[in-house]
Amino acid sequence: MDVISVIRAKRDQQELTPEQIDWVIDAYTRGEVAHEQMSALAMAVFLNGMNRTEIARWTAAMIASGERMDFATLARPTADKHSTGGVGDKITLPLAPLVAACGAAVPQLSGRGLGHTGGTLDKLEAIPGWRALLSNAEMLDVLDRVGSVICAAGDGLAPADKKLYALRDVTGTVEAIPLIASSIMSKKIAEGTGSLVLDVKVGSGAFMKNIEDARELATTMVELGTDHGVRTSALLTDMSTPLGLTAGNALEVRESVEVLAGGGPADVVELTLALAREMLDAAGLKDADPAKALADGSAMDHWRRMIQAQGGDPDAPLPVAREQHTVNASSSGVLTTLDAYAVGVSAWRLGAGRARKEDPVQAGAGIELHAKPGDEVKEGQPLLTLHTDTPEKFPYALEALDGGVLIAPPGTDFTPNPVILDR
Ligand code: URA
Repeated sequence: MDVISVIRAKRDQQELTPEQIDWVIDAYTRGEVAHEQMSALAMAVFLNGMNRTEIARWTAAMIASGERMDFATLARPTADKHSTGGVGDKITLPLAPLVAACGAAVPQLSGRGLGHTGGTLDKLEAIPGWRALLSNAEMLDVLDRVGSVICAAGDGLAPADKKLYALRDVTGTVEAIPLIASSIMSKKIAEGTGSLVLDVKVGSGAFMKNIEDARELATTMVELGTDHGVRTSALLTDMSTPLGLTAGNALEVRESVEVLAGGGPADVVELTLALAREMLDAAGLKDADPAKALADGSAMDHWRRMIQAQGGDPDAPLPVAREQHTVNASSSGVLTTLDAYAVGVSAWRLGAGRARKEDPVQAGAGIELHAKPGDEVKEGQPLLTLHTDTPEKFPYALEALDGGVLIAPPGTDFTPNPVILDR
């Protein structure tokens, strides 16, 4: 087999054979296929697509590139959730301990933020002492003792995807449905969860900008999961505006703790409960009541134990950025747009995100929202507070918000998007 014939086949819009797919994924993982050759193939896939048979084989080859975890020793059924990523998406933080409090085991392998979207591990690392890197044995131990664990995926899990995702990130080939679906599902299937709920984001702050593409991505991933024996379902959810009232690491931890304490913004609570119900159904725990677990403190109790089990202090004060800058409403009326992408880029420029994998993030940086689309606002009222340790970034962060905040005249009839768009 030679790589040039595989690249040519996809360039010329042919279906790749199972042998070609198995060989190219394996050879790239071993370093026999060079990055520039895999970049050319990724771009050919980006432009010409892959059919369901090819995507299934590509996913299987990426799973086979590494180890598979096994949770068969656990007494509880396993349930996992994956979000395709957005702005202010802190749902994993309250959701994992909540679902654990209802009787499932939640092995949540999470990632770091890149670009304008945040990463769960960066958020949790705002908690003093908390550790994202656990061995497989430590992960199983926390899962067994607490019921939920949120940690980084080990190097042994789908190593082909690790290499390919890093390559796609720097070659403009991330936003391709076959590549996203196979990337996400290879990790989730290799992780060994029994059931999986996908939160596929739609809107300016998401990979998928329109609902048709999001539906195709969701369907592709549900089929891949089902074919591998993982009970998989998907919700399509709104990402035209940030989730909740915060975007940024420590700010989002604070908001998640508010949700676990029985408060928090309505959209975060609604999505957390909807995903919890999906996960519990898929895990066969249909009688569990996640709203009760939020109200009676058992979800909070699981959160505290999960953070402590990973070295964190749930009572430690969270980092606060050194400088704040408030943006006020320029007129009175109805807030119609608070654009997720604009807020995400602005928070990233303030230091909440990173441009390269090795960059540090500022724990306290980010944006607090004081209003949401649909709210009536008064001229001069605070709309956003920007937080950073590097105030020289304020002008760039403000520039990112240009055109992202729109206020219509008072009395304008405007209905914001629902949080959950489809199942
Ligand atoms: N998240 C992943 O893990 N892979 C992708 O391709 C996109 C988002």
